[in-house]
Amino acid sequence: MNYRHAFHAGNFADVFKHALLTRILFYLLRKPTPMRYIDTHAGIGLYDLTSPQALRSGESKQGIERILTTQFEAPVRELLQPWLDQVHSCADATGKACYPGSPLLAAQLLRPQDRLILCELHKDDRRLLTRHMGRDARLKVIEMDGYMGLKAFVPPMERRGLVLIDPPFEQPDEFEFLAEGFLAAYRRWPTGTYSLWYPLKHPSQAHHLAHHLIASGVKRLLRMEMDICAWRAEGPLTGCGFLLVNPPHVLAEEAQALLPALTHALAIGEGADWRLEQLAGE
Ligand SMILES: C[S@@+](CC[C@H](N)C(=O)[O-])C[C@H]1O[C@@H](n2cnc3c(N)ncnc32)[C@H](O)[C@@H]1O
Repeated sequence: MNYRHAFHAGNFADVFKHALLTRILFYLLRKPTPMRYIDTHAGIGLYDLTSPQALRSGESKQGIERILTTQFEAPVRELLQPWLDQVHSCADATGKACYPGSPLLAAQLLRPQDRLILCELHKDDRRLLTRHMGRDARLKVIEMDGYMGLKAFVPPMERRGLVLIDPPFEQPDEFEFLAEGFLAAYRRWPTGTYSLWYPLKHPSQAHHLAHHLIASGVKRLLRMEMDICAWRAEGPLTGCGFLLVNPPHVLAEEAQALLPALTHALAIGEGADWRLEQLAGE
């Protein structure tokens, strides 16, 4: 486990992931009944963008820092606002340039009646996550393999909620683990909302993943992807995607506005593009 998210926090892939994640939570939180948020690969929750790791990679400069200086059209600004409010409140609370990861973002948005399960396998990162999340009776931080976490905690007793599966893709078989882990959870809880993040390093892997899920009978499957320049076989990541299962109905419409605006703001060269497809219906 060499991957440390501190080198990548606030990059274009985090922007894509967290802006969409906030929209999903925003709709789930409209119903007063309790929900559960399960983050299988949680990271450390809070990232100091002035840390040596963040400065070494400089990735947030092409990510959140661009977003914070872009003038978006009003409809896009409104869609981004709930997420950007959390980014700002994080900086206000710490007095530093900080960036909230998915667990902190979810914890800030969730209500007293909701619960969070956060799995993080790396010992040091789990310690940092525990520290960054603070005392919060709504949440459990567990040093555990995320796919084991899916087995242990899905379905949640609330029978409402969101699962984020966001592995580091260090292992050559990660796409297979992701598919199998998700499908086993989906069979036990087919009405849950799931978000599966993936890198577009080798786009055929993402293509196979989607087809495997469709062939396995997954319904209400939406795919969103973004490239910040034309695809490159080598070098840093330039594209990523989300497979969303049982997303809120309005999400596709919102993504039609968000994805072009984010792609435009985050583009680093020719070939920047976005895609949105409903892969399987009801
Ligand atoms: C991409 S980062 C997570 C980022 C986080 N979800 C966010 O959006 O802020 C992936 C995390 O998974 C952790 N990890 C690696 N293998 C794992 C496993 N098998 N189970 C749980 N966590 C794992 C890594 O230590 C890393 O912190």
